[in-house]
Amino acid sequence: MSFLDDQFYGQVKRHLERSRGVDLTGYSPSFVMRAIKKRMGRSSSETPQGYAKLLMRSEEETNELLNALSINVTEFFRDKGAFESLQVRVLRPLLDLKVKSGGGILRIWDAGCATGQETYTIAIGLAEEVNRIGAVGLPLMSIVGTDISRDALAKAKSALYTPEEVDNVPDKYLSAYFVKRGGYYEVVEPLRRRVRFHLENLLSAPSSKFFDAIVCRNVLIYFSRPMHETVMRNLYDSLRVNGFLMLGRTEALIGDMRRRFEVVDQENRILLKIQ
Ligand SMILES: C[S@@+](CC[C@H](N)C(=O)[O-])C[C@H]1O[C@@H](n2cnc3c(N)ncnc32)[C@H](O)[C@@H]1O
Repeated sequence: MSFLDDQFYGQVKRHLERSRGVDLTGYSPSFVMRAIKKRMGRSSSETPQGYAKLLMRSEEETNELLNALSINVTEFFRDKGAFESLQVRVLRPLLDLKVKSGGGILRIWDAGCATGQETYTIAIGLAEEVNRIGAVGLPLMSIVGTDISRDALAKAKSALYTPEEVDNVPDKYLSAYFVKRGGYYEVVEPLRRRVRFHLENLLSAPSSKFFDAIVCRNVLIYFSRPMHETVMRNLYDSLRVNGFLMLGRTEALIGDMRRRFEVVDQENRILLKIQ
């Protein structure tokens, strides 16, 4: 990259870090520059300086750039085995406990849910557990998916996915939990009813607490260390004691959070809040 490119790159990098806590350090600069150039081509700015100005004042353009960097990438049943483990080690005991104790709402938060595939995957796991135990004495259940990308959330709410997007969904689940609508697959209404989506920045104080389980996968990887700590603290505060936290395969607890959780499944990064 030329000196001017370097300066511009630094400006964009600092902006994404300050405004969204997204750390581009681990990204290949040529990949990032390609995404920026793509966005410059689509926006009205003709020079890098013009684009930098637009970016600083426009939340929408910041979202567009994050989208171009594929930061919303997600899929149904992402990482083989992870959601099987979630179902057996988290959803099953939680549901059994609520049924036995005869009360309370089972509350699950999918933090950084992108376009909703992960949230509906969790909902499918829970529906399977409900089928296993039968309908008698079922607690109320709520799954909430949150993200900072409005576009991603709009798609999540639509519950419509292309045939390519449902490629990973096992056939038995595809026929049980989706209906064909035009060229799309739509999540069935009973599943959609259990799921809500709303806008929430993980760097701000959480809007809700006492979750039984929080799934926050492939979100922390984008954050610099101080932001990582803030998000971790927010997740911790939102989880009840003896609640479960699931991170992405390459993500880990940092600092004093390590002694506040016990490992349930190391490979799939499932943790239990113990204090
Ligand atoms: C790679 S996607 C992960 C999606 C899903 N959890 C998965 O693992 O498939 C990361 C998501 O985190 C969201 N995100 C990034 N920064 C965020 C923040 N500060 N607050 C909430 N969501 C954020 C992005 O918009 C994106 O949708």
